[in-house]
Amino acid sequence: MDIRALDIHDGPTPPASGLLEIARRGLRAKPKRLPSWLFYDAQGSALFERICEQPEYYLTRCETALMQAHAAGIADTLGVGVRLVEYGSGSAVKTRLLLENMAAPVSYVPVEISPEPLQQSVQRLNGQFPHLPVQPLCADFTRSLRLPIPPRAPRRTVLYFPGSTIGNFDAREATALLRKMRTEMGDNGGILIGVDLKKETSLIEAAYNDAAGVTAEFTLNMLVRLNRELGCDFDLAAFRHRAHYNALAGRIETSLVSQCAQKVRVGRSQVAFDEGEAIRVEISTKYSLEEFAALAAKAGLEVLRVWLDPERMFSVQYLVRAGSVAR
Ligand code: AVJ
Repeated sequence: MDIRALDIHDGPTPPASGLLEIARRGLRAKPKRLPSWLFYDAQGSALFERICEQPEYYLTRCETALMQAHAAGIADTLGVGVRLVEYGSGSAVKTRLLLENMAAPVSYVPVEISPEPLQQSVQRLNGQFPHLPVQPLCADFTRSLRLPIPPRAPRRTVLYFPGSTIGNFDAREATALLRKMRTEMGDNGGILIGVDLKKETSLIEAAYNDAAGVTAEFTLNMLVRLNRELGCDFDLAAFRHRAHYNALAGRIETSLVSQCAQKVRVGRSQVAFDEGEAIRVEISTKYSLEEFAALAAKAGLEVLRVWLDPERMFSVQYLVRAGSVAR
């Protein structure tokens, strides 16, 4: 299934000509929207790394603390002779903690759409684990993957999807992605996934509105990118970052809000904005354990284990095919 066709919010980086079409389509839509993968150019990726260091952004801190506390137990659950496939260029720390604790892993396959971070993670891992075969795959993980042939037959394939990136997909897209992953991991495989949990609204909103303004800069960088790559003329002072927790939908909704009535050049035409009009750029869904188990079930998966960080803010969950475990 082509997840990209379902919603403009996620999908692969298109060729340059495609970028204009995507921007044009999203900015003509009502309400206006732009896909969140547009955040991750070189500058945006660097800004995201800085977000992870902000005191309000509890996700990275909690997931790292979780891995520090539970890596041994997690590795034990995954078992011996695993091929570990990571979706997205993961944080060095979390992946290292996992691999350090795994028994005789067969190979590590980082899957990443942008070549630079992919190359970096290969070099890092080769330095840290000189005997572990690293088989990078430059691809969009929302699409069907052709995994490289492993150096020897693994006992199982485990897909590692940390960071709660699953939260960036709406319910339909998330189900489709998990179903695709279920196919990719095979009968005996598993999915190790980071899932951010529902909690007090003020804590969630603070994480997406840090006091230092790094998240606002990250969001606005999307317009910087469109100005540079498409020759748009977005006035950065005329748009503001807004991240609001929609309690009913259980998600952070991030927008760029036009501060005045204005026109912006996009390709050969202009796009009009009303004062206060928003461009939706990201959703970050927060789950209860029950909600995530229900989502997994829709994709034909069951939650075998859940680990929490010491503050119980974030979870890492191990999913397998529904009905595959003898009880
Ligand atoms: C990397 C997608 C998990 O949604 O929390 C951080 C991205 N956006 N701050 C998230 C992000 C704004 C992040 N993910």
